[in-house]
Parts: sequence; C-alpha cells; structure tokens
Amino acid sequence: MLDISFARSALPKSGALVLLAEEEGEPDAIRAAADHATGGAVTRALETTEFKPRPGKSCTILAPGAGLSRIVVVGIGKRAELKPRTAEEAGGAIAAALQREPAAAVAAAQLTPELAAALAAGAALRSYRFDRYRTNEKPEDRPKLAKLIVLSPDHTRIRDAWAALRPVVEGVHLARDLVSEPANVLNPAELAERCRALETLGLKVEVLGPRELAKLGFGALLGVSQGSANEPRMVVMHWNGASGGVTSGGVTSARGKRARATRPLAFVGKGVTFDTGGISIKPAQGMEDMKFDMAGAGTVIGLMAALAGRQARVDAIGLVGLVENMPSGTAQRPGDVVKTYSGQTVEVINTDAEGRLVLADVLWYTQEKLDPRCIIDVATLTGAMVISLGHDYAGVFSNDDELAQRLHAAGEATGEKVWRMPLAESYDKLIKSDIADMKNVAGRPAGAITAAQFLQRFVNGKPWAHLDIAGTAWATKDNAVVPKGATAFGVRLLDRLVAEYYES
Ligand code: BES
Ligand code: MN
Ligand code: ZN
Repeated sequence: MLDISFARSALPKSGALVLLAEEEGEPDAIRAAADHATGGAVTRALETTEFKPRPGKSCTILAPGAGLSRIVVVGIGKRAELKPRTAEEAGGAIAAALQREPAAAVAAAQLTPELAAALAAGAALRSYRFDRYRTNEKPEDRPKLAKLIVLSPDHTRIRDAWAALRPVVEGVHLARDLVSEPANVLNPAELAERCRALETLGLKVEVLGPRELAKLGFGALLGVSQGSANEPRMVVMHWNGASGGVTSGGVTSARGKRARATRPLAFVGKGVTFDTGGISIKPAQGMEDMKFDMAGAGTVIGLMAALAGRQARVDAIGLVGLVENMPSGTAQRPGDVVKTYSGQTVEVINTDAEGRLVLADVLWYTQEKLDPRCIIDVATLTGAMVISLGHDYAGVFSNDDELAQRLHAAGEATGEKVWRMPLAESYDKLIKSDIADMKNVAGRPAGAITAAQFLQRFVNGKPWAHLDIAGTAWATKDNAVVPKGATAFGVRLLDRLVAEYYES
C-alpha cells in the first residue's frame, strides 16, 4: 500500500508538491511560499490556464524551480461544502496525477483532520495495482508513486483519523487481491486458506470441507460443486468486538450458561471461484471474467478484515460458500433435484444459476445456527442485474425497510451506491416447480428479482438484505478512487453501515 505519513507544514525542498485550491478561499501559506520560491510560477500557471478550483479539476506545473519536480494544484470547490467523499476523490485525483513521481507532499492545512484523512484514503485506494504476475514490465512503465506526505499543522490529529481508515483501505485491497487472482490459483481450498490467515487479525476462522458439509446436508451447495475436481469449502469468520475478546460466538456466564452480549450481524458472500455455467455452459466469449464470481465472498472477507483491523465495537460473522462450477462427467445435470440444508427441494433447471444454490445453504445455516440480528448477503448473482442498473448502482433487495434505508444512506456516504429493487409474492410464484418445492430459474423477465425471491426462501423471515453486485464488482475503466479491475464493492459500504448504525 501507498506509504502515507504526516508532517507539519513546510515547503518541501524537492519532489512533487500538491496544493489544494478552494473556490472563494484564501491561498494557504505553503501556496504563497511555493509561489514565492518559484518566482510566481503558481500564480502565472493558474492565470494562464484560467484555472477554476472545482472538484475534479487540476493543473500541473512541471519543473517549476525551487528544486521541485512538479506542482499540482487540485481544486476542492467550496470549503464549507467539502464532504469526506469529495476529499477522497481529490486524493484519488492526486494519486492518478502523480503516478510518475516516487514521492509527493500534499499541503492540507485547509482541511479538517477528518477530511485530510479521507484524502489520504482516496489516494491509497486509487494507487492499488495487482501486479503479482507481471515479470518483465519496464521500470519506466510502472507507476512510481510510493510515498505521500500530508502536510498540516494538525498532522497528529490527521494521523489518528487515518489510523481508523487505514484498516478499511487494507480490507479493500485484500478484497481486490482476492478477486483479481486467477481461478487456477484461487480455488475454494486456497481461498479458505487466505481466510484462515486472517486469524492474525484476531478473527476466529472455521473452515468446513466436503465431508462436514455433506453431514450437515448442504445438498444445494454440493450439487454445484460436484462437477469440479476442486473441493468446496464453507468458511465462518467471527469477529467479537462488542463483547470484547474473541469467543466462539458467545460468552460463558458465571452459571456456565452461554449468553451473548449482543446478537451478531451476519454477512454472507457468494464465492464461486470460477463459473463456467456447468452443463448449462456459458459462451466462450468473456467467460474469463467469471473468475470474479467470488467477489461477494471477497467483499465479506475484506469487510471482516477491516472490522478486525480497526477493532470495530460490534459482533459480526462473515460466511462464505466456496465452490467451483464446472461441467464434467460428475457434474450436476439440468433437471436434477437437490435437497437443501433447509429441507426444501430444488429442481435445477439451469446449472448456471448456481449462486443462489450455494447461498441457499449458507443462508439457512446462518439463520439457524448463529441467531443474527440481520443477514446481509453479497453476490455477483445475475446478468439481469447488470441490465437493470448497469455499473453505477448495485441492487438491494430486502424484507426490512429500515435496513434497506440504512444501506442506501451508507451507499451515498461512501460512493458505493445501492438502489432498492422490489420483492413480491407475484415474483415468488414464478419459481414454482412441477416436481419440487421450487426451481432455480424463472424466465428472463425480472431475472435479478426472481433470484432474490429464491434467496428469500432461505432466510426464514429473518431481517435480511441481498446485494446483487454483478454490475459493480468489476470496473472496465478507472474511477475516482477505484482503478479499473476488481472494485471490492461493498467493503466500504458495509463498513460504513456497521460504524454508523451498529457499533456500541
Ligand atoms: N455469475 C453469474 C451472474 C453474472 C453474469 C455476474 C454476468 C456478472 C456478470 C450467475 O451465476 C449466472 O450465471 N446467472 C445467470 C442466471 C440465469 C441462468 C437465470 C445469468 O444471469 O445469466
Ligand atoms: Mn452462473
Ligand atoms: Zn455465478
């Protein structure tokens, strides 16, 4: 991760300098000093380019003198209107503009500690790159920015504010790493090992393999997995931050009875490490994208790492169902009927509608064994979701208005936006089967909704929300704080949800 440090305000003697320009504000002391040291280069450049200091606008001055390699002036708009989200985006723009510089200093005296830390987070988020498998990239082609120094008289308070954000950025980076990994490397067993490694953060991690899952009766998850040579896993990650210390989900009282300090939040992720479609095989074109079909699990894992990393005062459990969906001589056939862990039976009309089968068993386990306050699942569930909302908003489906509203608010605050979609009896009817309790697909109409209706049959009426991130888990172009590739959509959203509404 980008190395971020903090220091008191002083004009740097070398390297790159970033100045923040406000609408209607006085230039700060460093800007005046930089202008003076460069013989008025800053003022000249801003006048020549008729620079407007609006968010998203910047002006670069190369080799301005005074030993500096460049000065970048970044617009932040009106200071009174500045939100953490805008500061984050400014940080992202700074990281993008300074790729060619090994180190940069940002003069941030105009910002509150909260906003300056948000700017640092934006820069760190935007600087992410997955380069594990590049062996011969020319050094000059590689982004250089490794160090960002935030300059402010308030630098110690900014450092404290950053300490709370940093684990969330690390959680995002972890999720992006997992989603970027190719499926030959990241199979269910390997993904489970990566979860287990998070025990060092204070999470308690349980891993269930095929024999344990069979014993429980996870017929739907195992049906998806049966065509693959790679064994399935389910991973359960516990974070006990509210009751203090990590326990197996409860604390033992003086009388030896198990009593829980607070009921946990449960987060459930779809972890299909590769989705070929199975026997209902997908077309070759674009199939390589389906390594990202474990992005819901990636988000849940990144979130759990973030909560543990920042010692969130909450009890939370993350569960991921990990399988590979392959066609083979042992694969599930269209028309097969499987018995889910809930006891309900499913006619598998299309083996490519596998995510809901995996989630069915994990959701039932969650509500049955963990007594959660609410359940939020995250999944790259349907192509229909991409058709509905494109790549800007994820769909949220919920049986709980308050939870849906909270998710919406957290989305607006973090920029990981969600839009509520309907659930209704009339949609639920569409998944009736002639020979089993339900079938796993309806027709093409309302495909994202009928998938959500399917999931709802496995939450047993408990408060629940489903995020379909099929359109938002992967970006094909750079965004303000998200470089193209795996987005880790949902990590920041759900971290915010927890911080805002559930921490004690
Ligand atoms: N993983 C896919 C959904 C998906 C498609 C995510 C495109 C991201 C981009 C899911 O398992 C799937 O294949 N869904 C089918 C369901 C259909 C068979 C009812 C789909 O959306 O086509
Ligand atoms: Mn599929
Ligand atoms: Zn899938």
